[in-house]
Amino acid sequence: MKLVKKQIDKLRKKILKYDYFYHSLDQPIISDAEYDYLLNQLYNLELKNKEFITSDSPTQRVGSNLIEKFKKIVHFSPMLSLENTFDIDGFLEFENRIKKFFDKNQSINFCCELKFDGIAVSLIYEKGILVRAATRGDGYIGENITNNIQTIKSVPLELKGLSIPKRLEVRGEVFMLKSDFLSLNKEFYISKKKCFSNPRNAAAGSLRQINSKITAKRKLIFICHGCGLFEGMEHFKSHYKRLIQLSKWGLPVNQEMLICSNHVEIFNFYKKIQEQRHFFNFDVDGIVVKIDSIELQKKIGSNNKFPRWAIAFKFTSREEITRLRDVKFQVGRTGVITPVAYFDPICISGVIIRKASLYNKNSIEKLNLCINDFILIRRSGDVIPKVVSVIKKKSLENQKKVIFPVFCPVCNSKLMENKEDKIIRCHAGLTCNAQKKKALHHFFSKNALNISGLGPKIIDKLIEKKIVTNPIDFFYLTKFHLQKLEKIKEKKSLNIINAILKIKKTSLKRLIFALGIPLVGEVIAKKIAISFKTLDKIVNAKLLELESINGIGKVVANSIFNYFSIVSNRELINNLSKKIDFFESREHDVKNKFFFNKRIVLTGKFISFSRSELSEILIESGAQLSNSVSKNTDLLIYGKKTGDRKIFKATELKIKMMSELEFNLLIK
Ligand code: IVH
Repeated sequence: MKLVKKQIDKLRKKILKYDYFYHSLDQPIISDAEYDYLLNQLYNLELKNKEFITSDSPTQRVGSNLIEKFKKIVHFSPMLSLENTFDIDGFLEFENRIKKFFDKNQSINFCCELKFDGIAVSLIYEKGILVRAATRGDGYIGENITNNIQTIKSVPLELKGLSIPKRLEVRGEVFMLKSDFLSLNKEFYISKKKCFSNPRNAAAGSLRQINSKITAKRKLIFICHGCGLFEGMEHFKSHYKRLIQLSKWGLPVNQEMLICSNHVEIFNFYKKIQEQRHFFNFDVDGIVVKIDSIELQKKIGSNNKFPRWAIAFKFTSREEITRLRDVKFQVGRTGVITPVAYFDPICISGVIIRKASLYNKNSIEKLNLCINDFILIRRSGDVIPKVVSVIKKKSLENQKKVIFPVFCPVCNSKLMENKEDKIIRCHAGLTCNAQKKKALHHFFSKNALNISGLGPKIIDKLIEKKIVTNPIDFFYLTKFHLQKLEKIKEKKSLNIINAILKIKKTSLKRLIFALGIPLVGEVIAKKIAISFKTLDKIVNAKLLELESINGIGKVVANSIFNYFSIVSNRELINNLSKKIDFFESREHDVKNKFFFNKRIVLTGKFISFSRSELSEILIESGAQLSNSVSKNTDLLIYGKKTGDRKIFKATELKIKMMSELEFNLLIK
């Protein structure tokens, strides 16, 4: 139970931090999707452990943005948020929940609207005059931003027309057009000011300025989506009709509204808006579905966060249209040439995106891509950006066909296409500087020969200064070499040298993976290490032997065989084996059955291996590792600086113990 409480506290702390950056500083540091994910996790944990719910938990509040610079006001009625769904099932659940409130045969109207991605505000009109404007704040207390709202041209300072109520509270959204956001950021960029990450943040930052003259310059827009108070006009019993009346009084109401009477009509509206939204000059992140009858809304009511009569049906995969400006060709570790599209920056799910991989020549041809085309970008799974299509009807001017190069953009050697997989490669290997850098990054990366402190930047500088050209050179590095690089002083250089000394003992699997043989990832590397057991056998393996390994097909076997047929690769391995001491794969090894099936606990700091390397050796030898000593433990392996607890318990339970030195002797 304690663990759950810890998890809940940790999540709350994280979410509160993100809330502060988002609401108070207008500088989100994670995407909306990641934020929703964390909040959902917390919500589910609290649901299962209700005793830990506290009134200050982020799940119990409407996101707050109160800061000290504005006067506070109390809302006449809470400004609630909206429940979200991202799929049809979520919407149908909402429909089922609310059905309980009506008679079986009662027909219900839903008012479907756009969900504007802006800042919620409340405007109070008394006798038709705008007297107060406020932000949502924490839903109960907001900030008085009347001066700033008065500068927005679409907000009428005085209502016109007949039967204007004595007091009217209009609620709606303030936002910035995409085109104005881009111009503002361009201006900021030129004057070296920090740019806004998306139109929503630009609107929030502009609205909450102490100096309303700055707000006035920012071209903000206001749209109404509801009423808080409608005094004296209670005979308007439909939300839709109320909005139409607001527009008659001169308040801005978006025309894309639809009354639907069933979910098929609602889904059609959702699909239509999903397709059209790229052509809107403002961000729309879904639709809002509201029960139209004000009477029914009151009957169904709200909880302390959401009204139960409305739901935001959000768009899942976020897409944007932008303009392609360039295509560059990157050279990968194994020489594969990958085209990368560079476009005008766009913001999807709170993240600014400027480039996306185009994968291969085929995809350029399929898209029929030209520089200056308008292209549709999607973040697949809301993470990796992808060029989905070219919007041909928008792309008319200055188009230039994207042509795949014939020579390597880094070393200028002739590129060659593999007729089978259609992949285009530079075959210059380590003589191509791009491949050399990437191969060495890979060689010393975390899951390969992991040298802590030796990241890609240092490797690149060592290559540029011609201190290293291949993996062997790293074993001859001294602290003096490293100190030739900027920002590397005595301590850091010694740490790197020590880390290099440490990897002189590593597993065969890691070495095979580090070599970067095309098509050989960690899984295949492990299979090879287990099957052949020694480096010598792997290097001299026949094609048929490689093919006979379970899980290795003809193509991969060929790739491995070809790699070891190249003289320079064999030389590299020969030199490496003089420098590195491999402990070979022990799984199924009859000679070393000592650890097989034993339940082992590790304690203390180890000198010859990192914890993960030691665990790897033991697991490969068939041992089972656990974190704490119990009567079921077979062996405790201890290093230096052990805490007394595990040793004490093992002594008490008379469990066999082994020092690091003994372990080393055993595996020699
Ligand atoms: S109705 C009590 N309608 O979305 C219901 N809200 O994520 C109040 N929003 O706080 C909101 N477009 O600021 C409504 N057509 C729309 C909207 C809309 C955008 C905002 C609003 C709300 C937020 C919830």
